[in-house]
Amino acid sequence: MALDLKRIEALASEYADRHPRDLVGLAVGEYGTDLSISFSGAEDVVLIDMAVKAGGEFRVFALDTGRLHPETYQFLDRVSEHYDISLDVMFPQPEAVQDLITEKGLFSFYRDGHRECCSIRKVEPLVRALSGRAAWLTGQRRDQSPGTRAAIPVVQLDRTFGSPETPLVKFNPLANWTSSQVWAYIREYDVPFNPLHQRGFISIGCEPCTRPVHPGQHERAGRWWWEEETIKECGLHASNLNE
Ligand code: ADX
Ligand code: SF4
Repeated sequence: MALDLKRIEALASEYADRHPRDLVGLAVGEYGTDLSISFSGAEDVVLIDMAVKAGGEFRVFALDTGRLHPETYQFLDRVSEHYDISLDVMFPQPEAVQDLITEKGLFSFYRDGHRECCSIRKVEPLVRALSGRAAWLTGQRRDQSPGTRAAIPVVQLDRTFGSPETPLVKFNPLANWTSSQVWAYIREYDVPFNPLHQRGFISIGCEPCTRPVHPGQHERAGRWWWEEETIKECGLHASNLNE
């Protein structure tokens, strides 16, 4: 697939109103093992379901921050078995984690904000996960965050982790889906899901930085709840703040 901006923008408008499975199929067909699905252990498992059904090869990675819920670890394993796929589990650099903890303790994010810890535990491993890939596929949705995700297209050039020398295409097939549509898909196709969703958790990240939300609260109200809405991006999708 040619990587010029015009082509990407044309695809974004062509696929904006199509079913996400069409875009997942296109991504898998075009890129194969040069494509990685980033799987967080939450409801974005539907992407894996669609990719498996599309047929062909692709990669899946999960960023193990070391701070996920036990239920999420079990779920990662369950998904890997259920779909018979191998999951690249990415770990942070031990020295960087060690230095952070030695200097600031295990819960510095409550005091200093989440960016520093996220950059060590998520962003640096993401850079390694994407190294050598031509495209990645995420479960971001516009309705997840009116402040930062309201304008994400279904496909874009990734200007944060790609560069003119090493271009990277970012597919967000669920961008235009609501949470209800994701859950309707999960029920219709009997897709496995993280049991935390049955305990009031909607958006699921690391255990110390995620809590259940009350009815009527926005789904990301339970993420980094001590911080302002406008900065609730951990760096994986930093381009949402820049663009
Ligand atoms: S975050 O940036 O706030 O943590 P969020 O939890 O909304 O992200 O998830 C959005 C998408 O980012 C997911 O659908 C997934 O593609 C990717 N993602 C988030 N966390 C991880 C993770 N731990 N491992 C792999 N991908 C992740
Ligand atoms: Fe650290 Fe919290 Fe970010 Fe996880 S979400 S990497 S624990 S700051």
